Amino acid sequence: MATSRRRQIYEGKAKILFEGPEPGTLIQYFKDDATAFNAQKRGTITGKGVLNNRISEYLMTKLNEIGVPTHFVRRLNMREQLIREVEIIPIEVVVRNIAAGSLSKRLGIEEGTPLPRSIVEYYYKNDKLGDPMVSEEHITAFGWATTQDIDDILQLSLRVNDFLSGLFLGIGIKLVDFKLEFGRLYTNDEMRIVLADEISPDNCRLWDARTNEKMDKDRFRQDLGKVEEAYQEVARRLGILPEGVAPADFKGPRTMQ
Ligand code: TMP
Repeated sequence: MATSRRRQIYEGKAKILFEGPEPGTLIQYFKDDATAFNAQKRGTITGKGVLNNRISEYLMTKLNEIGVPTHFVRRLNMREQLIREVEIIPIEVVVRNIAAGSLSKRLGIEEGTPLPRSIVEYYYKNDKLGDPMVSEEHITAFGWATTQDIDDILQLSLRVNDFLSGLFLGIGIKLVDFKLEFGRLYTNDEMRIVLADEISPDNCRLWDARTNEKMDKDRFRQDLGKVEEAYQEVARRLGILPEGVAPADFKGPRTMQ
């Protein structure tokens, strides 16, 4: 594979990070691997890496345009994008608009219930502990982020939610909830908090606005079938996957540059 000549920096469950072409950059490679329930469930979603690379490129570019700083620089090929190297803040930020998933389970709120307002939750990014939910108190007391960092993160997360909710509604999709990660970008003597990781059906809940059909990784988590088709449909509605493109065109390393 074209990727083997570069130095690997990190391998996660869905992505690999390689050394970038110049200092301060990395290459983010999107795999087809899928995991759920803290990797107790494992599988492959054929073509997922190609689609998530495209979907995340599209959404991060749009967010950049409205002034949300992100780590994204440019897409390099089918499965890779160039990103700025950031220091990842070990917090997963979940924004919810409609009850689903762990919120429904924990608080006994029926899935699909619109929330009175958007709710932001924080989870400590630690696989060994199963990403436990934490409060701002834990985050600042243990030094994972400062109060100022959290203010920035909250403000950015709500802007992302407003913008993406509208964008998805425009293509007939409800943005139920999603998970974001942020990083510290150091330039000269300055530090800025920027959006990192990816935004894709792997870390968003996306429901068809008319039928409430799930169009995201819950199809894999809950064995609902038609997983690949759901990711393709999101890409198609975003205008990224041209109509009539056969799924076969999105398979495997043959398509890599
Ligand atoms: P949850 O309802 O399981 O807490 O998930 C909330 C949102 O966060 C949902 O859109 C899926 C996403 N998510 C991740 O991206 N990674 C994770 O590890 C988990 C648990 C959720």
